[in-house]
Formats: sequence, C-alpha cells, structure tokens
Amino acid sequence: MRVLFLGDIVGSIGISAASDFLPLIRKEKRIDFVIANGENATKGKGLSEEDYERISSFADAITLGNHYRSQYEIDRFIASADKLVRPLNLIHYHKGEGSKVFYCKDIPIRVTNLLGAAFMNETVKSPIETMEGLEEEFIEPIHIVDYHAESTSEKQIFAYYFDGAFTAVIGTHTHVATLDARILPNGTAYQSDAGFCGSYESIIGFDVDSTIERIVFEKGKLSVSQEGERVVYGTIIEIDENTFKTISIEPICYLEGKESYHG
Ligand SMILES: [Fe+2]
Ligand SMILES: [Fe+2]
Repeated sequence: MRVLFLGDIVGSIGISAASDFLPLIRKEKRIDFVIANGENATKGKGLSEEDYERISSFADAITLGNHYRSQYEIDRFIASADKLVRPLNLIHYHKGEGSKVFYCKDIPIRVTNLLGAAFMNETVKSPIETMEGLEEEFIEPIHIVDYHAESTSEKQIFAYYFDGAFTAVIGTHTHVATLDARILPNGTAYQSDAGFCGSYESIIGFDVDSTIERIVFEKGKLSVSQEGERVVYGTIIEIDENTFKTISIEPICYLEGKESYHG
C-alpha cells in the first residue's frame, strides 16, 4: 500500500495545486490513500467547511494543527466531518476527534494528529504522555501520526521514543520539507517535515512582500501568495500489505511547469 502524505495546504492556490497535480502523482506513484494537512487551507489560517469539502474531493483523511480553530465555523461542522482529524492533545477543545480509523483496501489505517509543545502558542498535553499506553489500545495494523510542531528535535525524540509502535511519524507546520526521510531502526518511517502545497515563490506559502512588511516593519497583515507556479510537497510511505512493515519513504516535490517531480 502506498500512502501519500501532503504537507500543509496553504490557501486556495494550495488546494488547487494538490487537486490538479494529484492525477499525475497518482499515475506516476501509484497512490492508494491520501492524507493532507489542511490547517492553512482557508486564507492561510484554519479550515472552512467549503474548503474541507474541496480537500475531501481528493484526500481520504485531513489533519490539522495549531490553526485548527482559526476559522470558528469549524465548531459547527467538525463533529460531522468524517475525514477530519484535529490535534489529539488539546487541553481545552473537545469537539471532533484527534485520532480516527479509515479504511483502504479493507485494511484499517489509523491517523492521529498531535500538536508539539515547544515554541507553539497553544498549551497542550505532552505528545509523549498523550500517546503513552494508547499504542496498545490502538490495535490497527497501520498507524500514521501527523506531528505538527516547530521543533525538529522534538519530533525526532517522539519518533525514536515510539519507534516501531507507529507505521510513520510525519512532521508538519514548518512548511519546509526536510531531507531526513528515513526508516528508523525499529521500522517507523520518519520525516521532520513534509513541506507544503501552494505558491512556490513565497515565504512558506505567504506573499513575500506582505510577509516582509509584516515581520520586518510590523505593518499590514500576512496574505497568502496567490501568484506564480504552484508546488506540491509531500512524502510517500510504502507499507507491506501482509506484514504491515514499512518498506520505504520517499519525499516528493511537484512543481508546476516541470514535467515530473524533482527531489
Ligand atoms: Fe501550517
Ligand atoms: Fe501550523
């Protein structure tokens, strides 16, 4: 089984990039199941119901992150959004679910979303404490964790601590794909960050000029870059359908105008 994990989708341009490139990616990479991080899909912050539906048209599971509630309307639809997985370790938010089981070829796939503790604004329960013991309760043969966090070492600590308990631990949030995709000694596939989907000539998906104005001169506000070539970063995890062992992890990057991917 080949699972495609797409990094944070940023804005409408990110949704269209993922949606438009997926037929080619499916054809070239034989994808069976798609997980997409949708926390920045609506104007760069959060996920509206309309954008949830748009991403649902091409993704089987949609994870979130620190922007899980940046669009307040999520309170209204999260309970009925079957594909949506919000961070499991939130302390003050109880709507929706942080870990869900999906099916692909009749094989159960658990998808869990966790929010990191370091350098993040939200106070969360420690991801390790949250998952301690649950790996025995979660009996599905395939379990993929989206670890949404700023700190790469925090993600590595978690992945090594639970190495072998999960099929894959894939990082999100920084929007910058890392070159450390590998299978850890006990079999967990790992990558510190899967990257993002959106405007290529941008600062993590946001307009270059408005980001510099905002951060350097404290003027205006951040806006999603809507121009230029679109890019889709993600990573593909291949899993043996009999033993459920991880066979490989392969980061991908599809850039508009290029015939195929470049790594
Ligand atoms: Fe993000
Ligand atoms: Fe984030």
